[in-house]
Amino acid sequence: PYYDCIVLNGTVVTAADIACYDLAIKDGKIMLLAPKGHLENTPATRVIDAEGAYVMPGGIDAHVHLAEPPLFGKGRTADDYTTGTRSAVAGGTTTIVSFAPQDKSQASLLDALDETSGKAADQAYCDYSFHLLISNPTAQALDEFTLLRERGVSSVKIYMTYEALQLRDNQILDVLLKARATGITTMIHAENGDVLDWMTKQLEDRHLLAPKYHATSRPQILESEATNRAIALGELIDAPILIVHVSSPAAAEVIRRAQTKGLPVYAETCPQYLFLTREDLDKPGFEGAKCVCSPPPREGSVDHEGIWTGLQNGTFTILSSDHCPFIYDNAEMGKKAAITPEHPNGHFKYIPNGCPGVETRLALTMSANRLTPQKFVELTSSNPAKLYGLYPQKGALIPGISDADLVIWYPPTAIDPFPISNSNLHHNVDYTPFEGKTVSQWPRYTLIRGQVVWDRDHGGIVGQKGYGQFIKRDRSCFTAPNPVPWSVENF
Ligand code: URP
Ligand code: ZN
Ligand code: ZN
Ligand code: ZN
Repeated sequence: PYYDCIVLNGTVVTAADIACYDLAIKDGKIMLLAPKGHLENTPATRVIDAEGAYVMPGGIDAHVHLAEPPLFGKGRTADDYTTGTRSAVAGGTTTIVSFAPQDKSQASLLDALDETSGKAADQAYCDYSFHLLISNPTAQALDEFTLLRERGVSSVKIYMTYEALQLRDNQILDVLLKARATGITTMIHAENGDVLDWMTKQLEDRHLLAPKYHATSRPQILESEATNRAIALGELIDAPILIVHVSSPAAAEVIRRAQTKGLPVYAETCPQYLFLTREDLDKPGFEGAKCVCSPPPREGSVDHEGIWTGLQNGTFTILSSDHCPFIYDNAEMGKKAAITPEHPNGHFKYIPNGCPGVETRLALTMSANRLTPQKFVELTSSNPAKLYGLYPQKGALIPGISDADLVIWYPPTAIDPFPISNSNLHHNVDYTPFEGKTVSQWPRYTLIRGQVVWDRDHGGIVGQKGYGQFIKRDRSCFTAPNPVPWSVENF
């Protein structure tokens, strides 16, 4: 048959449109859009009847940590490119953007990129791309930004916290200036590291060490201060920035003010800031450690509402998982439980920061029923593609141009609500922070470049390890291609 796959009768959703029509796929691309039912008798290798169900561009998760060495001094991430991307496709995600971390001792960013590329090659179930995580912006590293672009990397991440990673403001300016000149978007982890170290010391002096004190050590003001400073540094350079994993409405407000001024400020939030609260850190024993991430989950319904509002009103550009997996049930230092001989009951300072979530991101958000289907696609697929230069190959359904990456849901009548259970997930982690949360939907099929890689009712993971390809990225679609050069004399 001419077509490789035909998807019939679905309610097809993009960031712009929602309508019932048929799709035909050939050679890995969306090839034809046709009125509903028109392709019914067209021969195809595979036919999927999506009657009554949403059909969307596959999820793009632009914040995933895989196969990372213990950069934070707290153990290596539990998922590699095989298990992490297996988990992604089971949750409807077709492309991830993960991190290529520069070790502080590493002068060359290209070495860091090669190292991570080696870990991903022939291992992935879904397509992937890399952000360069910069821990040491030496002159050589900055000089390599042009070469990063040639290698298809158009974003870097920097940190305002973590001893091993924290950059000073002058170093941030160096990065922003070079990023601006080379068409790179700078992702910023905005927490004031000095304040948080000071707060941690205060808590330690009082022997307040339980997991919940992780949140106490990082109050909202420490996030909104750093967010404000990141925006100010970006404004000085006139460079686009993306504030990663925003947890608090206070920080979202700072971001919205900057956006209203017309500054190129973008923002990301994550399911943990919609579905977890500070109380989750206070579960019995050391169970709260499972929900330790940075910034921490906030106060509950008021803060969650603020984040939902930011998703609805456009303050947030993207919704990512910040999948950062550590094994819980292990007494060794460096594992999530973080029990040490000195602190047999644990100490929040030693708990690896981060939660797994690449598989649950779409189902949790979809099931909350708070976003229109188009907004959902915008935040979870189209905007990540545009922001990070994957569009329109990814994040769209343009005939002849877009890859046939799809997530197909159930008709609402064909699935009963069920609780999330780690035993059904495909990552290499022994827990999910979302255990027991009820979802009303789950991806039924995931297709990547026209191939079904997840078929929930017939085989589950049916894709192949190594099918996932490295995707080169261009500059962000949100920024002008030829900015007027920055000049210090403008001030
Ligand atoms: O707690 C978190 N978010 N861990 C992952 C590392 C990071 O800063 O994104
Ligand atoms: Zn971060
Ligand atoms: Zn002590
Ligand atoms: Zn992260």
